[in-house]
Amino acid sequence: MGRRRPDGGGRRVMSTEGTGLILAVETSCDETAVAVVEQGRLIRASVVASQVAMHASTGGIVPEVAARAHLRWIVPVFEEARSAAGIDDWSTIEAVAVTNGPGLAGSLLVGINFAKTLAYVHGRPLVPVNHLEGHIYAAWLLDRDAPERPAPPFPLVALVVSGGHTFLVEMQDHLQYRFLGQTVDDAAGEAFDKVGRLLGLPYPGGPAIMKAAAGARRRDVEFPRAWMGESYDFSFSGLKTAARRAIEARGGGKALDVDAVAELAYGFQESVVDVLATKTGLAAERSRARAIVLGGGVAANAVLRDRVAERAAALGIPLIVPRPALCTDNAAMIGAAGFFRARAGTRASLDLDARPSLPLVS
Ligand code: KG4
Ligand code: ZN
Repeated sequence: MGRRRPDGGGRRVMSTEGTGLILAVETSCDETAVAVVEQGRLIRASVVASQVAMHASTGGIVPEVAARAHLRWIVPVFEEARSAAGIDDWSTIEAVAVTNGPGLAGSLLVGINFAKTLAYVHGRPLVPVNHLEGHIYAAWLLDRDAPERPAPPFPLVALVVSGGHTFLVEMQDHLQYRFLGQTVDDAAGEAFDKVGRLLGLPYPGGPAIMKAAAGARRRDVEFPRAWMGESYDFSFSGLKTAARRAIEARGGGKALDVDAVAELAYGFQESVVDVLATKTGLAAERSRARAIVLGGGVAANAVLRDRVAERAAALGIPLIVPRPALCTDNAAMIGAAGFFRARAGTRASLDLDARPSLPLVS
């Protein structure tokens, strides 16, 4: 690591022209992640230390435990990403991007303070990134060995479905969001996690329900769909209650057998996916979108990906969805969004603070 702060303690910000290399840090929830991304697209390195196994024993995230794990892992994860990207000379890094919200306060603070320190000692600009914007910009990412693919065209419609958020937005250009609708109660991922627990499946519920549903023999279990009138809003709490009743009725006080779990998981997943895919298709049609973008952990769901792909194909437009590991939390997506933010002039000072409830559009 070459360059040092000049003697006298002054903060030197070197020229940011050109390199397009963003070092990104993400610690908003339960993944400690650092990445290096070039020109907002090409992943030079992306390292994620997941706490999923640790939180599985408590069936969910304990915020203090998550923050302590970030402290434990941030330096090794950074070192691995730096060395995989071959970064020895900090003058090649255009900016340090970091998630400043939304998320868990203690978790966010670890990443923010780490990124601040890097930016300060290496004289690089610090760029704050909204985690939700990161999930959208994951659609811009390219793996090193993947063939070149055009960037998502505007206007586009993006559906973000994660453990904490579910919303639809229209983008006419970079960093421009028009909110179309959002959940009025639970996020889609939260519904997957809660129903997964009711079905006795391991944490997190999303992937476990997807796996169980694939084995369903009977596929006629119907759960309600909350259409929320003509709006683009979503609601999953009624579905969760319906699932609880069906699980109790089917079990009759005893544990469910494998077939019952699979059939109920199938019915639940169909209901969530049907509403998400239908509303996303309608929004894309009415917005005359040139592409649909999917992001967030639930976008790793194969049935959702297929169903939205069918809608996009019917409209003659592409569905752009990152590979599953880039749908769930990672720092490469923060590096992609951070590049466009950096080029738009977004900067944070060293008093940047965590914003646990930061909205996408304020
Ligand atoms: O984006 P993410 O990693 O973290 C948040 O920002 O919330 O999303 C995590 C959520 C969890 O609720 C998890 O159950 C869900 O994404 N998820 C899935 C799948 N993989 C992860 N939901 C449905 N199907 C999946 N394959
Ligand atoms: Zn997320």
